[in-house]
Amino acid sequence: MLPKHIGIIMDGNGRWAQQQGKPRLYGHQVGANRAKDIVLAARDRGIGYVTLFAFSTENWKRPISEVQGLFLLMEEFFRENADELAESGVKVNVIGDRSRLPRSIRTVAANAERITANASRIIVNIALNYGGRWDVASALRRIAEDVAAGRLDASDIDEDLISSRLATAGQPDPDLIIRTGGESRISNFMLWQAAYAEIYVTQTLWPDFRDEDLDAAISFFLSRTRRYGGLKTAPHNGRGEGG
Ligand code: IPE
Ligand code: IPE
Ligand code: MG
Repeated sequence: MLPKHIGIIMDGNGRWAQQQGKPRLYGHQVGANRAKDIVLAARDRGIGYVTLFAFSTENWKRPISEVQGLFLLMEEFFRENADELAESGVKVNVIGDRSRLPRSIRTVAANAERITANASRIIVNIALNYGGRWDVASALRRIAEDVAAGRLDASDIDEDLISSRLATAGQPDPDLIIRTGGESRISNFMLWQAAYAEIYVTQTLWPDFRDEDLDAAISFFLSRTRRYGGLKTAPHNGRGEGG
């Protein structure tokens, strides 16, 4: 079966730009365009959910000029693409801590969500000021508030309840995570949701990632045997077989 939800750690923009003697922001600009094309390719392949890691809670450590440049690009991205995404059946959902984002981005992001709200071919989570630990901590904070207010009992807290309070509530967990740029790490991306994701690392830098690379990642996924802690089981037996 195809992955239901693909998470993408879009890494390598800076190195790609530097390789061609260009400023890092140029890599981010080309990367943003790639993101749009790959979302459309995922849609065409029948993928229901894509999560794009665009800015992590740790990316604030970068020089202020890069952070501001990234925000400017993202603002432009939302403003210029919302209508086309809606027409293409792409529903945009921004996940992450919005409170620290510039007001201008919060506004265009909310507009993009509104404009694409009725699109139904693919849901794209854009992870902006997102961290897996932030996601879990915010879910737990809301649960604690409900317990304190008597709306929930501590004994109600289980894995499903926690999942239902994450930024990805109601969505299937990512079953495939792609990381471009060659690093074999998760960098605080979807920590809870990634429990059983297959992880595909490619040396390809994000601005070079093409539809064929998406197909290669999907083929990798299809070739995996997913055991979920059990043993390899016969096809059609529970969740035992992945490909
Ligand atoms: C990923 O590319 C994009 C963001 C983290 C915003 P990088 O900017 O991390 O590119 P490299 O890893 O330095 O090449
Ligand atoms: C991960 O890339 C974050 C995003 C792609 C947004 P980084 O470049 O920030 O990750 P590290 O620093 O190599 O772990
Ligand atoms: Mg990087």
